[in-house]
Amino acid sequence: MFEKPVFFNEDCVEGCRRHIPDGVVDLIVTDPPYGIEGDRLHKHYNRKEEFVLDGYVEVPADEYGEFSRKWIAEAERILRPGGSIYIVSGYTNLIHVLNALRATRLQEVNHIVWKYNFGVHTTRKYVSSHYHILFYRKPGGSATFNTHCRFGASERGEGNGSLNYQDREDVWVINREYKPGKTKNKNELPSRLLMKMIQYSSNEGDLVCDLFLGGFSTARIALGMNRRAVGFELSKTAFAHQAREMATVERGALLRDLRVPEAGLPPRQGLPWGSGEKERIASRFAALGASGLTKKKVMDVLSREFGRGYWSLEKVIKTQVLTRRSGVTRQNDLFADRQAQGGRHG
Ligand SMILES: C[S@@+](CC[C@H](N)C(=O)[O-])C[C@H]1O[C@@H](n2cnc3c(N)ncnc32)[C@H](O)[C@@H]1O
Repeated sequence: MFEKPVFFNEDCVEGCRRHIPDGVVDLIVTDPPYGIEGDRLHKHYNRKEEFVLDGYVEVPADEYGEFSRKWIAEAERILRPGGSIYIVSGYTNLIHVLNALRATRLQEVNHIVWKYNFGVHTTRKYVSSHYHILFYRKPGGSATFNTHCRFGASERGEGNGSLNYQDREDVWVINREYKPGKTKNKNELPSRLLMKMIQYSSNEGDLVCDLFLGGFSTARIALGMNRRAVGFELSKTAFAHQAREMATVERGALLRDLRVPEAGLPPRQGLPWGSGEKERIASRFAALGASGLTKKKVMDVLSREFGRGYWSLEKVIKTQVLTRRSGVTRQNDLFADRQAQGGRHG
């Protein structure tokens, strides 16, 4: 189903009921209209308005609660059990989106904050420069979360921090795209933001749906990453322009430029413990510590030598300390002392 991309110039609630059966969508990434009175939305950033498409359909503020309940109920219905949904929301109507989510069986996974550049200009208060991204999941099936799709478990960045950990923190700093001279939707989401959600929460061939296509950016990125795409846009102007452009999108083209993470998991992670392996880890931990290495360096060496992840090593070492009360205890105390002294031995 939907082997070829299909886009409907329709209201998404009616459109979903008409065209999308229960439980066929693997991932929804969507950015509903914000329900902000007046038409100030597109004036937020410094750009020439002649390149911004007309015809963005807004929702009256006093209808926002009912509107959110209707489309989110449809989103729940079309998601497969285990499927994920990411909803981008400003703070003005966030409460309505959260209440609508609470009225479903969808479960919260993360409440992400997206910090962008070109915030709303203000003089007598703080500059507003974030959106909320509500990441929820439909219970009852196996969920897709590709933990190591962008950074391997042992990849380190500046200050030796884990790149995988940093990439999976729930505050994302991603700039909007500046596209001088190009026709665009009033509020287009940046490609990097969309790629991140699609990479983590879907696989090639999965069906990705956007109920509010706007500039069709979700669909464009989904197809570029070799996913299937379906979606809705109510505005005739936006739909006519973007649907034409979509015909030129090459499926899978973005995969060529994706960063390839270094060796995903440590090779023995998840395998049963070998005989005497835990004792050897504890002894090696003590010996390496005694040589004056920091705990961090000791753990890196252990991870390389034993092919285990940091957390399983940590657990083994703690258990061994409890059961043996050996030199390992003294070693942990030594690291604690060093830390207390501000890492002067470090
Ligand atoms: C915030 S924009 C989406 C922007 C899009 N994510 C992008 O990157 O270009 C919301 C879009 O929803 C459309 N819209 C409003 N009400 C709708 C409805 N009931 N069904 C489908 N689309 C609707 C608006 O016309 C607008 O283009």
